Amino acid sequence: MEQYSKMIFTTSHKPKKEQIEKAYEYAKAYDGVYKNRRHIYKYINDEDFYFSIDKNNNLEIIWKNGKFFYHPSIAKIRYNNYEHTKDDYLIKSLTPCKEDSILDLTYGLGSEALLLAAFSDNVIGLEGSYPIYIIVKEGLKNYNFPDNWMRKASKNIKIKNFNYKKYIYKQKENSFDLVYCDPMFENPQMKSASLNPLRRFAVYDQLDEKDIEQMYKICKKKVVIKARDKDSIWNWLKVDEKMGSSHSGVYYGVINKK
Ligand SMILES: C[S@@+](CC[C@H](N)C(=O)[O-])C[C@H]1O[C@@H](n2cnc3c(N)ncnc32)[C@H](O)[C@@H]1O
Repeated sequence: MEQYSKMIFTTSHKPKKEQIEKAYEYAKAYDGVYKNRRHIYKYINDEDFYFSIDKNNNLEIIWKNGKFFYHPSIAKIRYNNYEHTKDDYLIKSLTPCKEDSILDLTYGLGSEALLLAAFSDNVIGLEGSYPIYIIVKEGLKNYNFPDNWMRKASKNIKIKNFNYKKYIYKQKENSFDLVYCDPMFENPQMKSASLNPLRRFAVYDQLDEKDIEQMYKICKKKVVIKARDKDSIWNWLKVDEKMGSSHSGVYYGVINKK
């Protein structure tokens, strides 16, 4: 087996010319290599993963027992619920408005960033994992969003491949109106079907008091942290308000800038 440290980009079987062109394009853009799908197992082991362009020209990551691709998860359901009930803890805790700049430190699939971008024109999302970043960046650009609000919101988001633990220390005081952080839960909800394929690639950094202090410094209005009820962060994090549901066990802690 030939060894490749670079990420491999390929296509589905029997690809169209356009798929091959796309795979080459992505390989170049993300410092990877293109390989013909027929010969892929010459270059990878059973545990490895590779990027593939499917028949609809969408990018996905494939490995032995799974696939990871972009989709907006439950953003649509949450948006529709909010329209009817004005009841969504993300929106209630951050209270975003059109002019607000929002820094989402933990982008993931960006389902919550998309929801926030329906209310604010300026959302910056950081994703520390390079494979996740590639999938969500290309997904956001190319996904066939079913609703007008989603198409508009997707244009309000900029995704960057940074670890927030470094990024926040390079920002000036009061750089963003709102700062949001939703790290991987200490006590994960494995039934979260939309997040399960992402877990293999995710960054599992835990927040500490210094990070919170720095987030507070760089925000103008508030910092919101999401965690599960059993997570240890609630033992030390000082919040002005904590909102969420005991049913889901997910809470949003709000720290207002004074
Ligand atoms: C729970 S998910 C976020 C889900 C997101 N709120 C959504 O709506 O899809 C956490 C994400 O943050 C990323 N992450 C965790 N720690 C990070 C760090 N220190 N810097 C940047 N990204 C990080 C993980 O790789 C993962 O993709």
